[in-house]
Amino acid sequence: MSVDIRFDLSGKNAVVTGAARGIGRAIAEAFRHFGATVAVIDRVEHCSTSCDRYYQQDLAETAALPELGARIWDDMGHVDILVNNAGIDYSEWFNEITLEHWRRVMAVNLDAAFFLTQPIAERMIDAHIAGRIINVSSTNGIVAEAAQAHYNASKGGLELLTQSLAIELGPFGITVNALAPGLIETEIYKDLNVPQELIEYSKEHIPLQGRWGRVEDVAAAAVFLASDAGHYITGQHIVIDGGLTCDQFPRFKFLPPYRSRLKNKPADD
Ligand SMILES: NC(=O)c1ccc[n+]([C@@H]2O[C@H](COP(=O)([O-])OP(=O)(O)OC[C@H]3O[C@@H](n4cnc5c(N)ncnc54)[C@H](O)[C@@H]3O)[C@@H](O)[C@H]2O)c1
Repeated sequence: MSVDIRFDLSGKNAVVTGAARGIGRAIAEAFRHFGATVAVIDRVEHCSTSCDRYYQQDLAETAALPELGARIWDDMGHVDILVNNAGIDYSEWFNEITLEHWRRVMAVNLDAAFFLTQPIAERMIDAHIAGRIINVSSTNGIVAEAAQAHYNASKGGLELLTQSLAIELGPFGITVNALAPGLIETEIYKDLNVPQELIEYSKEHIPLQGRWGRVEDVAAAAVFLASDAGHYITGQHIVIDGGLTCDQFPRFKFLPPYRSRLKNKPADD
């Protein structure tokens, strides 16, 4: 028996949203590294991400997205892979959330993913392209966190949108999956002013070596789902969180240590 597994993206056209920095940038650059032609959409005026085409667009302007999707399709000739990555977050209690913030979070994190997927997926069907849609969700789409009701709800919606579209697009060979990162080192946390104590505390609860993830940890999963190797996976999410959401309760902290009896100890012990 010969095993033929390919991660190569040569000849594929990919679109990645929110790719001027952070996770989106790593995904766009990883796709290019594996041979894809990549278009980036972001709101910033100057984008230094290595890409073939750049479209400046505020994705909160939902009504502009069907036309943008059609324009990108025409410019590239076709699209094989769409990554809905752009996302925003505000850290605020439920009674502080304004209608403006609620709507903006929903518009960028959820509405944009749908209204960009719609024109592109329709064209994939018409062109008989077994395309790939990848939505960057979050562990907050699976388990909630305090002071992020709008963000949690938007990512939970994105998880169910992923399943919904997987069902409708599956008959055409198009896969729709989500990536659910946990705590990944990007500038989003600087914007949120996350206290250092929270960062240190969070590390104690990450089973995999107590470290936050890196953007390339998420990009690697995106390459896998976008490649031929991921062709039989749809309607799923890949959780990239170093095991953070495996642990129901920090029981570990209250039990006698077992690691002291081991010959090889983790570096931080
Ligand atoms: N960093 C993490 O720990 C983490 C964890 C879980 C999920 N995520 C998700 O991953 C995605 C990327 O996060 P990140 O950490 O790289 O964030 P980031 O803030 O570093 O990057 C977000 C990118 O999206 C762009 N963007 C934001 N709003 C936009 C809009 N209205 N129109 C167009 N572009 C817009 C920004 O300009 C930026 O380039 C988001 O969907 C986020 O919710 C991140």
